[in-house]
Amino acid sequence: MLASMDKEKTRRAIDQVFRDMAGAMSAGMALVGTRTGLFRAMAGKGPMTVDEVVRASQLQRRYVEEWLRGMASAGYLEYSPAAQTYELPEEMAYFVASDGSDHFVGGMWEMVPPLMRVAPQVAGAFAKGGGVRFEEFGPDCLNALDLINRGQYEQRFTDYWLKALPDTMERLRAGGRVLDYGCGSGRVAIAIKKAFPAAELAGYDVDAQSIARAREAAKELQIAFGSEKPSGQFDLITICDCIHDLAAPVETLREIHRLLKADGTLFIVEPKAADRLEDNRNPVATMFYGFSLFHCMTQSLARGGPGLGTCMGPQKTEGLLRDAGFRDFRQLDIKSMTNLFYAAKP
Ligand SMILES: C[S@@+](CC[C@H](N)C(=O)[O-])C[C@H]1O[C@@H](n2cnc3c(N)ncnc32)[C@H](O)[C@@H]1O
Repeated sequence: MLASMDKEKTRRAIDQVFRDMAGAMSAGMALVGTRTGLFRAMAGKGPMTVDEVVRASQLQRRYVEEWLRGMASAGYLEYSPAAQTYELPEEMAYFVASDGSDHFVGGMWEMVPPLMRVAPQVAGAFAKGGGVRFEEFGPDCLNALDLINRGQYEQRFTDYWLKALPDTMERLRAGGRVLDYGCGSGRVAIAIKKAFPAAELAGYDVDAQSIARAREAAKELQIAFGSEKPSGQFDLITICDCIHDLAAPVETLREIHRLLKADGTLFIVEPKAADRLEDNRNPVATMFYGFSLFHCMTQSLARGGPGLGTCMGPQKTEGLLRDAGFRDFRQLDIKSMTNLFYAAKP
């Protein structure tokens, strides 16, 4: 240690390094927990011995044993030294063994391998510019994107989020045209079609693989998913987790402006982040800065875009919408740990 260094700050610095490495490894171990079904095998079972977890999961004993130790060390499992048992507490099971629900967190862990895979390419782009294109991330990234939001889109979008727009809901009950712009795997359009069968639904995305996933997910539902530019005018356009990704944000928002009926509404979902960095010092924002560097920002820069990044915040969002000609921009009072919501009128 150098004489100029503060002892306490030095201890905190090395603590931070180990805490973050532990977080990275815990995310990997947790990914294994969801993929193998280990969390589900332990949910609601109380304290279990290694052999009981092996029997319940039908997995290899030595792997299970080391995983149990790692997850107990990380704080996911409660460990009793006296009884040599491991327990997945109900409060943790709620998040990690709840596949398909709106509180399942496994999609975030699925995002780690595809993002870390491109980390060397992103590091290279620091010197030479450009970035990693959206389609280069591969199918596991599309799957992770889908898993992160799917539960919320299926269980909250129409039952909770859209309730912030009562007039629009009323209109959709009688019919109306809806477009999900940048629809990805199609879950938003599917949720709206299921809740409002009389409405005409379309989903647009530039990514062909995402459109194929959306068509597969929609199956017999009548939803026009495609990569051809949408035409006609819509009562509601939704744009979820997409504006910050755009390569030409104002131009694209102008196009969306033209696609809305004069009394139509644009419903916007964006990641939860504050305008100022000093207000973004929390774990959710740190995760989003990582998602940004290794995905959202780099894929925009790769297409010659501005690389707005995941944490652009409400002021920047409003500025883009106003530049594109929208009026009546307002932030909606919808509670969420990870998203912000806005509505805008043409
Ligand atoms: C982070 S994903 C979100 C997908 C989906 N909306 C969701 O919430 O799961 C962003 C999506 O925006 C699409 N996208 C990006 N730029 C676009 C553009 N100019 N026009 C249409 N889609 C675009 C991408 O292909 C990608 O599917």
